[in-house]
Amino acid sequence: MNKILEVKNISKRFGNIQALRDVSFDVEKGEFVFIVAHTNAGKSTLLKIIAGILEPDEGEIYIEGENITKTPPWERPVGYMPQTYALFPHMTVLENVMFGPIHRGLDREEAIEKAQKYIELVGLKGWEKAYPHELSGGMQQRVALARVLAVEPKIILLDEPLSALDALLRVKLRGEIKKILKGKTVLWVTHDQEGAMSLADKLIVMRSGRIVAVGNAMELYYKPTSLYVAHFLGEINFIESVAHGGFVQILDTKVSTDKIGPVVIGIRPEDIKIVKNNSSPLGRVKELRFVGGFWRLLVDVEGIDLVVYSLKRIRSKEVSLRIHPEDVLVFDYPPEGIRRAVHLE
Ligand SMILES: Nc1ncnc2c1ncn2[C@@H]1O[C@H](COP(=O)(O)OP(=O)(O)OP(=O)(O)O)[C@@H](O)[C@H]1O
Ligand SMILES: [Mg+2]
Repeated sequence: MNKILEVKNISKRFGNIQALRDVSFDVEKGEFVFIVAHTNAGKSTLLKIIAGILEPDEGEIYIEGENITKTPPWERPVGYMPQTYALFPHMTVLENVMFGPIHRGLDREEAIEKAQKYIELVGLKGWEKAYPHELSGGMQQRVALARVLAVEPKIILLDEPLSALDALLRVKLRGEIKKILKGKTVLWVTHDQEGAMSLADKLIVMRSGRIVAVGNAMELYYKPTSLYVAHFLGEINFIESVAHGGFVQILDTKVSTDKIGPVVIGIRPEDIKIVKNNSSPLGRVKELRFVGGFWRLLVDVEGIDLVVYSLKRIRSKEVSLRIHPEDVLVFDYPPEGIRRAVHLE
């Protein structure tokens, strides 16, 4: 284990708002870590504290074992790209990227050399003399990235770097950034859980200033430890049920469980199989929607509405469904009710 960043028990309050509550996690050298959460969860506040722009009320930040909680931002070995990132409009691409190195004490020649190296790395060689308004949104984001890289930080902090771009460009640039940042230590903050899952070595899920889950994308998606995380990371059916005798039942599938009493069964729409088999439970197709690449069905089976995904177009009004026990999640019934537990109210 080679911890480069340690965040220890960070709390931060703004007046009546508790923005962060006892937040602790580590980042290993070379790790690509995503923090994902809804708006106002405290993501930007956390990055600002790591970057040194805000002071925490409680807790410490360590980089390579050194306590830097009181170190000013420009002396921290971090490169920070804020959420509302703006390039200096009156400076060229080269001048924008040189800014950090000069600010950190490099002479002009060295700063130019560094800037050119990173402008080339982000694929903008030849654009050194251009001004930001002459570049597309995607190019501007790449300049912003070069600016962060040019100070050669030990950790790169990115706050929603793609949020200003349209969906197609976002997906394209996401992959490019991952390539550009290969081997670097990155902490990337976003509310886009799909993007996060596709790139992250490690995901940290936050809710209202707290960390509620840490793990790799597959673990958290397939074996979430709470209703909240299960729901946050992708569409899922929740069915109220009761466990007894070591089992809980969904359609004709029996699932063994340690739980007793009221439970919530979770099953992902892609894990419900449409089968050509008359012995499986039959459901009535109530809704059918093409959502690009696959079909989303709402099926009523024995009074339960289930969302089911199908890659193939379904033409019949009735379908037989099969669920495998290993795809079924069983949660304790939340005392606050399902909707509250997943933050819908
Ligand atoms: N300087 C500030 N003064 C007062 N309240 C603040 C300040 N900065 C943040 N907050 C509040 O703290 C909470 C967390 O804010 P933060 O910006 O960290 O959330 P976020 O997860 O980054 O949200 P978003 O996804 O919208 O960027 C919010 O309720 C916000 O209104
Ligand atoms: Mg934010």
